[in-house]
Amino acid sequence: MPSRLLVALLLSFLFFFSLSSFTFSKDAIDDLDEDLSFLEEDNAVSHDPHGDAGYDFGDDEFAGFEDFEDGDEFSLPAMDEKDVVILKEKNFSEVIDAHKHVMVEFYAPWCGHCQALAPEYAAAANQLKSDGVDVVLAKIDATEETELSNKYDVQGLPTVLFFVDGDHMPFTGERTKDGIVTWIKKKTGPGVYNITTTEEAEKILTSKRKVVLAFLDSLTGTESEQLAAASRDEDDVNFYQTVEPNVAKLFHIDPQVRRPVLVLLKDDAEKISYFDGQFGKFEIAEFVFANKLPLVTTFTRESASSIFESQIKKQLLLFTTTNDSKKVVPIFGEAAKLYQGKVM
Ligand SMILES: *[C@@H]1O[C@H](CO)[C@@H](O)[C@H](O)[C@H]1NC(C)=O
Ligand SMILES: *[C@@H]1O[C@H](CO)[C@@H](O)[C@H](O)[C@H]1NC(C)=O
Ligand SMILES: *[C@@H]1O[C@H](CO)[C@@H](O)[C@H](O)[C@H]1NC(C)=O
Repeated sequence: MPSRLLVALLLSFLFFFSLSSFTFSKDAIDDLDEDLSFLEEDNAVSHDPHGDAGYDFGDDEFAGFEDFEDGDEFSLPAMDEKDVVILKEKNFSEVIDAHKHVMVEFYAPWCGHCQALAPEYAAAANQLKSDGVDVVLAKIDATEETELSNKYDVQGLPTVLFFVDGDHMPFTGERTKDGIVTWIKKKTGPGVYNITTTEEAEKILTSKRKVVLAFLDSLTGTESEQLAAASRDEDDVNFYQTVEPNVAKLFHIDPQVRRPVLVLLKDDAEKISYFDGQFGKFEIAEFVFANKLPLVTTFTRESASSIFESQIKKQLLLFTTTNDSKKVVPIFGEAAKLYQGKVM
């Protein structure tokens, strides 16, 4: 029924509209207003929402969750911000110059999305410090430091930038403690870590993070280099290598099989994926990219950035009630298998 379709479409657009309701520039809102006009057309269904500025979830527009939140459902958890450095105009360059790696969060006190990030950010700073990672996590009040905000073209909040030797790039990871920690470790550390003992392996396995393990004949050489090259393309999966059969066994690899073997593990129903391609960096990167995400991602504040900032530009959104989801999500998941790495 066309009217039902229209209602569904309208609902999804209202949903996105509420996500994007705050930005510094009014232009984006105008854009959205403009885009909603197609709903009045008869052929609305055939409109490709990605064809133009429909909903661009770049950092710029990905700013306001206030409406989505409605404030009260979300109570601020306790946090320890002792490891988050406050930066102002006057001491910004000093800190950027003095440290190779600095992450900077531009925020505003009233921004709900910033408030949601704050405890994750603070916890990430604690974790990175205790892990001995040489990085500074800083925050800047964009409403006060307007000069800095302009200089770095801060359009929406929060904007998170990562400085390496003074050059900056946007933070593209998941906005959770683990997301931030993993992303920064990837940017600052070696691409691939060695696992030599089963104790190390067990620790990694209990971390519930996405990991790639390669079971190799040697920790150096061509295969290890291909693995390292592939790891540089992946910011949210940790890469490990081992030559120990006992470690391989813990990662569900038969130690008798011919090496190299590579697996991807994630904390998910579909826990383990075995790589069966040629052992080259492109093939490995492609395999990890296609298999790292769960078949069905639950849309939450935390996962939103990984959905809309993913290289996968096509998304299929299922709106359902908790009751119905038990029935429909498995079906949705079956369909998702056919499009892994192509549609989210
Ligand atoms: C920068 O200056 C502000 C305000 O004086 C201060 O609170 C902050 O601790 C300083 N940051 C650093 C890293 O010195
Ligand atoms: C892994 O082991 C190899 C061989 O001993 C070594 O060259 C490499 O630096 C190690 N990698 C890390 C991250 O420790
Ligand atoms: C969900 O399912 C239960 C059991 O079938 C039912 O009692 C309840 O009313 C349902 N809730 C909604 C919101 O439909």
